[in-house]
Amino acid sequence: MLQAIGLRKTYGDFVALHGLDLEVGPGEIFCLLGANGAGKTTTIQLFLGFIEPSAGRAVIGGLDVRTHALETKRLLAYIPENVMLYPHLSGLENLRYFQALSGGAAVADEVLLSLLAKAGLPEAATHRRVGAYSKGMRQKVGIAMAMAKHARALLLDEPTSGLDPKASNEFSQLLETLKGEGVAILMATHDIFRSKEVGTHIGMMKHGQLVARMSADDVSHTDLERIYLQHMHD
Ligand SMILES: Nc1ncnc2c1ncn2[C@@H]1O[C@H](COP(=O)(O)OP(=O)(O)OP(=O)(O)O)[C@@H](O)[C@H]1O
Ligand SMILES: [Mg+2]
Repeated sequence: MLQAIGLRKTYGDFVALHGLDLEVGPGEIFCLLGANGAGKTTTIQLFLGFIEPSAGRAVIGGLDVRTHALETKRLLAYIPENVMLYPHLSGLENLRYFQALSGGAAVADEVLLSLLAKAGLPEAATHRRVGAYSKGMRQKVGIAMAMAKHARALLLDEPTSGLDPKASNEFSQLLETLKGEGVAILMATHDIFRSKEVGTHIGMMKHGQLVARMSADDVSHTDLERIYLQHMHD
């Protein structure tokens, strides 16, 4: 569903991403670990079409992001570290607004409300201004948006950083739900523990290169941390 093929990004002489090859299938969660500046956000932004590759291709559902900007965006949902919502609108109003913007079919309010409930937003909060929401609650609205547009691929950039452990755990459960529905998920994170808990695959990036990749089932938490630290020290 998500494919990076020789995906490369340079800024002048600086190589932010050296020809990345990566594939995330339906029902897979690929967690990207790596030090600051490793190229995780760059990878995600290339899939989003926010930046242009210097070489190679970002492909979603078999379509090149560059030549099929609109079609690939329809397949995609994106959750950054801080989900940007209109603070003066309620959770429901934000969801309704962004669903309309996404170009899909109109969705009835009762369906939107059930999605907010499925995302774990307390019912009492759905009609309250988002300006008063916690970070975890805004992330839940982001998940409800992904559900409302039936996104087939989800890109997440450090979605749980700054969430308390309970909120982070709830967020992981939501990702599990989406995984069960066959969504392909690519998540940049610094949370080694969560990447093992929620990921099906884990990749480690360093200086714009994927230096390790593994199946989450094949490593223990301790191994994962050891492998990570080894790579980052080299
Ligand atoms: N517009 C730009 N011009 C020049 N260099 C850039 C630009 N955008 C990103 N970079 C560089 O590309 C490299 C990769 O950055 P990127 O944001 O992808 O890292 P990251 O893995 O997401 O790091 P973090 O964990 O801090 O979020 C960094 O060295 C960054 O400074
Ligand atoms: Mg980043």
